[in-house]
Amino acid sequence: MPVGLLTLAGIERAAHAQLPPEIWDFIEGGSGAERTLTANREMFGRHALRPRTLVDVSACDPALTLLGAPLRLPLGIAPMAYHRLVDPEGETATARAAGRAGALLVAGMFASRTLEEIAAAATGPLWLQLYWLRERVVLAALVERAEAAGYGALVLTVDAPRIGRRLRDLRNGFAVPSAVRAVNLDQALTAASHRATAGRSGIAEHAREQFDPALSWTDLAWLRERTRLPLVLKGILTAEDARLAVEHGVDAVLVSNHGGRQLDGAMPALAALPEVVDAVPAELPVLFDGGVRSGTDLAIALALGARAVLVGRPALWGLATDGEAGVHRVLDLLREELEHTMALLGRPRLADLDRTVLAPWPCPA
Ligand code: FNR
Repeated sequence: MPVGLLTLAGIERAAHAQLPPEIWDFIEGGSGAERTLTANREMFGRHALRPRTLVDVSACDPALTLLGAPLRLPLGIAPMAYHRLVDPEGETATARAAGRAGALLVAGMFASRTLEEIAAAATGPLWLQLYWLRERVVLAALVERAEAAGYGALVLTVDAPRIGRRLRDLRNGFAVPSAVRAVNLDQALTAASHRATAGRSGIAEHAREQFDPALSWTDLAWLRERTRLPLVLKGILTAEDARLAVEHGVDAVLVSNHGGRQLDGAMPALAALPEVVDAVPAELPVLFDGGVRSGTDLAIALALGARAVLVGRPALWGLATDGEAGVHRVLDLLREELEHTMALLGRPRLADLDRTVLAPWPCPA
């Protein structure tokens, strides 16, 4: 492996060097002043690790089963729009890489390959992310297609009643190239809305037209009636919402601030994790995303109570630099770093990663 690619930071630099600036900004950017985006990363630096010694760590095992999905490690790829922006193959390459690495892929509703193409390429667990559409028939059709194609869970994103103000995209006048489309929403888009979105950034326009900002807790029953698939809510940041999610019978919650792309000033995801974990029954999986860039970060999120962790941008850096192999490199580096961290921490099992692993950084005198 080239020395420059020994860390996710190296892969990030390589992707930055080769992507057109406006695509880099679309991927990398957050909303507003990017306070939340920056804080997502900074929060990891507030934790130190407390290694235990003289523990037999000859076999570190990060494997688990998550909502019925067997995973080689507690890692997945977060749902992201338009993988074909960075690679001609797009989501099918990502799906093959995730399967090879034994990680989960959450395909996005705004995928640039069809649900069926992604499922055909996938060799591991695959979930589908949804936004709440005004056109319920379209949403219902997507759910049916996801079931038929073998998706294992639905992830409803609840932090986007409207799309965050992403100033980099506005300044760049960013438009998704016309060759890259949200192909799974083709039926949803009338000719008029196709015209309206042509040459504009895509998601913000789709969102205004298609997303239903009236979504509330009682609507979840509608989705429940239409599917037997487990339901995960993505974008939960508070104990209050975590408790409501439990009351409404969801199967898991995903602590996320959308990678700092929605409400700027929202709590850093890692800061929100403990209150959500403490608000739900121990058996309910709490997933996490936002700012994870190393095996150490992964271990910190797991120690704070996440059952599994998703990465967003790093998967696109891998895809941009080397297609399927690049995504696989990102996932495999994270696995290697996590196992290494577990060994040096003296915590060879996932169950050993609890809050006793952590101390504040800098350590108190
Ligand atoms: C996203 N994210 C996202 N989330 C979602 O629910 N639906 C979507 O369509 C997208 N699209 C999307 C595009 C791009 C380019 C990025 C970077 C992110 C948010 C994503 O699922 C996840 O919450 C964050 O990316 C996690 O943060 P990190 O790992 O990127 O720091």
